[in-house]
Amino acid sequence: MSGNDPKVAELPSVMRTTGWDDYALVDSGGGRKLERYGRLTVVRPEPQCLWSPALPASAWHAADAVFDPSDEEDAGRWKLKGKPPEAWPLGWGDVRFQGRLTNFRHLAFFPEQAANWAWLDAAVRSAGAQPKVPNLFGYTGVASLVMAAAGAAVTHVDASKRAVAWARENAELSGLSNRPIRWIIEDAKKYVAREARRGSTYEGIILDPPKYGRGPDGEVWRLFENLPELAGLCAELLSENAAFLVLNAYAERISGAALSGLLAEKLKGRGGHIEWGELALVQEGGARQVGMSFYARWAP
Ligand SMILES: C[S@@+](CC[C@H](N)C(=O)[O-])C[C@H]1O[C@@H](n2cnc3c(N)ncnc32)[C@H](O)[C@@H]1O
Repeated sequence: MSGNDPKVAELPSVMRTTGWDDYALVDSGGGRKLERYGRLTVVRPEPQCLWSPALPASAWHAADAVFDPSDEEDAGRWKLKGKPPEAWPLGWGDVRFQGRLTNFRHLAFFPEQAANWAWLDAAVRSAGAQPKVPNLFGYTGVASLVMAAAGAAVTHVDASKRAVAWARENAELSGLSNRPIRWIIEDAKKYVAREARRGSTYEGIILDPPKYGRGPDGEVWRLFENLPELAGLCAELLSENAAFLVLNAYAERISGAALSGLLAEKLKGRGGHIEWGELALVQEGGARQVGMSFYARWAP
C-alpha cells in the first residue's frame, strides 16, 4: 500500500432506509416481508426474515397482493385481491415514479436504495457545477432522477428497452424530462469500454450490476467474472476532480468487504476513502432491520 491509496474503512456500516410517505416495511418474519407501497400492501418472500412476524395473521391476510414463489412458472405469480392497478404513482422527495407488480417479484424500484439516493443527492449537490455521472444498470431510473434533480448531467445505461421506457416515463412524471439525461440502451461493459477508449471522464459513477444479465445484443453479464474488469474501466473514467464511485450488488455470495477490496485495488493511487457495508430496510417501529444488498463507495 502506498501513501496515496484509498483508506478502506476497517468496519462495515449499515445504510438504513426507514419508511417514508410512500413506503413502509410494515412487518417481517416467517421468510416474508409485509410492505406498503403507496396505497397497496404487498407480501413478498424474504428468506432472510428468520424470525416470527410481530403482527397478527389478519394484518398479513389483508394485503392487496401476495407473491407466491411456488408459482414460479405461472405468469400470475401475484395473487391479488380485486383488480390491481397496472401502475400507480409513488414518490421520494421531489422524484416521482410508477410502482408496478413485476414478474420478478419486485415493484419496479428497490426501496432500500433510498439510503443511497439520499447520499447521492448530497454528493451531487456538493460536487460543483453539473457533474457528469453515468448510472450503469440503471433500471427504472430513480437514482438517475435523484441525481438529475440535484443538478447532475446523467447518462442512464441499461440493456432493457422496457426498463429505459419506464425510466423515461418516470422522468416525465417527475417533471425532469428537460434535464440533461441521456437514455442509452446498451450493454454496460461495452458502453464503459468505449467511453474509456475515447478518454471520456465523469465526476461520479454509480453501478448496480445484477448477478446475471444480458446486454441488448445477447452479451452475457456474470457478476463474479465481469465485475473486476468493469470496475477497472470505471476507475479509468473518473475525472481528476471526481466526487464518487458507488458500487452496489444484490448477489447472495457477494459481501461489502469483497466490493471494498475490489475498489481499493482499482482505485490504487487515487487517495480518498472507501466505505462499505450493507443496505437495510428498517421495519416500522425500528425494532428490526432486513439486510438487502451490499455496497462499497469511494469518495476523495
Ligand atoms: C439490479 S437491477 C438494477 C437496479 C437499479 N440500479 C435500481 O436501483 O433501480 C439490474 C438492471 O441491470 C440491467 N442489465 C442486465 N444486464 C445488463 C447488461 N449487460 N448491460 C446493461 N444493463 C444490464 C437489467 O435490465 C436491469 O434493469
